[in-house]
Amino acid sequence: MEKLFVFDTTLRDGEQVPGCQLNTIEKIELAKALELMRVDIIECGFPISSPGDFNSIVEISKVITESTICALTRAVDKDIDVAADALHYAKRKRIHTGIGTSDLHIRHKFKSNREDILERAVKCVKYARRFTDDVEFYAEDAGRTENEYLARVIEAVIAAGATVVNIPDTTGYCMPYEYGEKIKYLRENVSNIHKAVISTHCHNDLGMATANTLAGVMNGARQVEVTINGIGERAGNTAMEEVVMAIKSRKDIPVYTDIETRMIARTSRLVSTLMRMPVQPNKAIVGRNAFAHSSGIHQDGVLKNRESYEIIDPADVGVSESTIALTARSGRAALNHHYKRLGVELTNEELDDAYDKFLKLADCKKDINDEDLLVIVGVTRAKQNQKIRLKYLQVVCGKNSVPMATVKLVIDGEVCCATSSGNGPIDASFKAVKSLIHRKINLEEFLVQTITRGSDDVGKVHVQIENKGNIYYGFSANTDIITASVEALVNAVSKIIAI
Ligand code: KIV
Ligand code: ZN
Repeated sequence: MEKLFVFDTTLRDGEQVPGCQLNTIEKIELAKALELMRVDIIECGFPISSPGDFNSIVEISKVITESTICALTRAVDKDIDVAADALHYAKRKRIHTGIGTSDLHIRHKFKSNREDILERAVKCVKYARRFTDDVEFYAEDAGRTENEYLARVIEAVIAAGATVVNIPDTTGYCMPYEYGEKIKYLRENVSNIHKAVISTHCHNDLGMATANTLAGVMNGARQVEVTINGIGERAGNTAMEEVVMAIKSRKDIPVYTDIETRMIARTSRLVSTLMRMPVQPNKAIVGRNAFAHSSGIHQDGVLKNRESYEIIDPADVGVSESTIALTARSGRAALNHHYKRLGVELTNEELDDAYDKFLKLADCKKDINDEDLLVIVGVTRAKQNQKIRLKYLQVVCGKNSVPMATVKLVIDGEVCCATSSGNGPIDASFKAVKSLIHRKINLEEFLVQTITRGSDDVGKVHVQIENKGNIYYGFSANTDIITASVEALVNAVSKIIAI
């Protein structure tokens, strides 16, 4: 059995989807989840495209130690310089550079010709090799590129130093037999192909992304580019969970992956929540109904023998019915049991803190679900060593009243208090906080999300503030979103004070 490398591009191709943009804290949270899943390569963004993308690659590079961090570029020296800068802190780094190779792209996008594009492809790979030995080349729109020319480009870029060659079906146009034959053609007609890993990168415009990816693997590709929940441009990219579970379930695919499949359900939920992109109920592997048996005949069959109607054990993807229900009367051990089930290891102190928050939440919310538990830990970790604490908050708001807020903060042990008005309770509270910290801050981003459904849900708040040109992030969660907002602001402000 040969190893198949899993390259996740949720944070790059997935994040390009309108409405799915993440802030740096959210990107770090997702990158950590991907590393826990043992993803081999995490593509984190396109650094030249925005300061936000650049910054998140820098921050992710500082915290990820096992997975390779990859940054995308065009075949342009400046892009590659910026990518190399963004990857400065990465323990393992990869530059992913490339250019369109189909006649359509060559003529219309580049107004050029095949020979010029081949030269530019070689040049960008050589340039990227100055910064790292791990250089991946993509031949954009390879799915519609004539095989003979594609083989020439691939041979030339491998000779120039590319260690991975990506064959994207950018428009999702290929049929599985055709994509498989393309990979086979390259294996048989590129003389130095043994010096590089062939990668698939399929889009789902005709619903063929997983089938095409597996056809590529059956014909010799040894890296797959995928996203969680198949999120991505237009109809999306190949879904990681589908490819990984197909490989695990079928003995006739001669490869294995290192993916910790029990993390799949949890990571799928995380992506869906962070990107505000619901998963369709009948989605393979991660849909709510993927393991639900509703007809009497099926239920009877599954109860007699699970394999009658299930090809995957739900526990293998982390879908396990919890046997210990969490209520306001549950103890620390029950809480810890659930955290372990979710793959979260807590220190004793973290457990104590999480337990306090859990009890408060259980008092005001009927069903405590896995998302709530993950939020509680996120808050605990975000507030570690915080120099400023919110001690008291009272707001007055509503139709026909002037919104007012009174805030008490504890700053390095000293209690201070302020009252302000604003155009709403959050604006008034933020003004009161600002008046107490004596620092000029600009609110750059403010994001409120509810976790599931219902008016009793926990709201998560992310803020991003700017002070003297530096950006600081804050996070909190609470069933009271005004409190969560002020706590998130205080969390961010504490980071300025800590420096
Ligand atoms: O779909 C595509 O061709 C891409 C490349 C930039 C790798 O995402
Ligand atoms: Zn793509």
